[in-house]
Amino acid sequence: MSLNNKKRVFSGVQPSGALHLGNYLGAIKNFINLQDDYDCLYCIVDLHAITVWQNPTDLKNNIFEVASIYLASGINPKKSTIFVQSNVSHHSELAWIFNCITRIGWLNRMTQFKEKAGKNRENVSSGLYTYPNLMASDILLYLTDLVPVGDDQKQHLELTRDIAQKFNNDYSDFGGSNFFPIPDPLILAESSRVMSLRDGTKKMSKSDASAMSRIELKDNNDLIRKKISKAKTDPLPIPDSIEKLEGRPEIKNLLSIFSSLSDTAVDETLREYEGKQFSDFKKDLSDLLISSVSPIREELIKLENDKGYVRDVLDDGRTKAIEKSEVTIKKVRNIIGLG
Ligand code: TYM
Repeated sequence: MSLNNKKRVFSGVQPSGALHLGNYLGAIKNFINLQDDYDCLYCIVDLHAITVWQNPTDLKNNIFEVASIYLASGINPKKSTIFVQSNVSHHSELAWIFNCITRIGWLNRMTQFKEKAGKNRENVSSGLYTYPNLMASDILLYLTDLVPVGDDQKQHLELTRDIAQKFNNDYSDFGGSNFFPIPDPLILAESSRVMSLRDGTKKMSKSDASAMSRIELKDNNDLIRKKISKAKTDPLPIPDSIEKLEGRPEIKNLLSIFSSLSDTAVDETLREYEGKQFSDFKKDLSDLLISSVSPIREELIKLENDKGYVRDVLDDGRTKAIEKSEVTIKKVRNIIGLG
């Protein structure tokens, strides 16, 4: 809870490559909807990005680009705090403290680590392994109530709740009782898991080798049309019920994208398109995508020519984030008995 009694929202995006429709529908679009009713902090989580190798020049550019995408998508810096994680060293300090709270067994259960490390487990950075502790620190440092994320972050959110509870219990006799609020995830059904355009069983991802698998927020209109026209479908027409989408992951994905872009439920989209050919649906989907993505792209071009403005937003964000995080970290040091 913040000083003005609004509940607090925190979320972050890694500056590790071109942002895509999954990032937008799963996370950023929801950030915008929350700005009026909550005290929101939106972070560019660069310390998370370096858990895997990042070329330093690209990283600098990507940090700037995520900040620009936040702004271009409609995050208003007068309402929300936009800042870079590494600008606020309290994140790293609290993450270290959580390294000492989290049990190894908890980290061993993290499916994202298993997926990312794959067979290379012995040779990935230890930061990749303790990554969820840093994420918990991002969230709890601001005594966050609500965390808008895509479905792939659900397990990390559960771990964050466990860490908060263990801290509160371990230090209950030292002023820690109920210290951290237990944050709730905000995961929206239609857009929580946007899938690859080439394989409906795989998540749309920055790291997929094929750019045809994803719509990037910087794609031009022709490219958007091309990617949608080539998106995998099947020879059957569009069905009349959600149950009949079972076993047709690509179709389900395209209909879900349409529904979340148009803020309608999937069964309503089905009612509109049942029995129709995919060529008609894909044309409408491309139009809808272009009407959502092209204003962001145009705004990005403007910001590209106004770098000073973006820098000012981030400087201001740093000041505001430090003001808030300082209060928490001082109390945490005191509860633990540090310094
Ligand atoms: P990241 O950078 O991988 O993704 C940013 C946000 O986009 C969502 N997302 C998706 N949503 C739907 N469909 C997809 N295909 C898709 N791909 C990505 C993610 O769920 C996320 O919400 N660990 C986080 C960053 C982070 C964070 C935090 C988030 C660090 N600290 C604190 C919330 C709170 C991550 O790697 O997101």
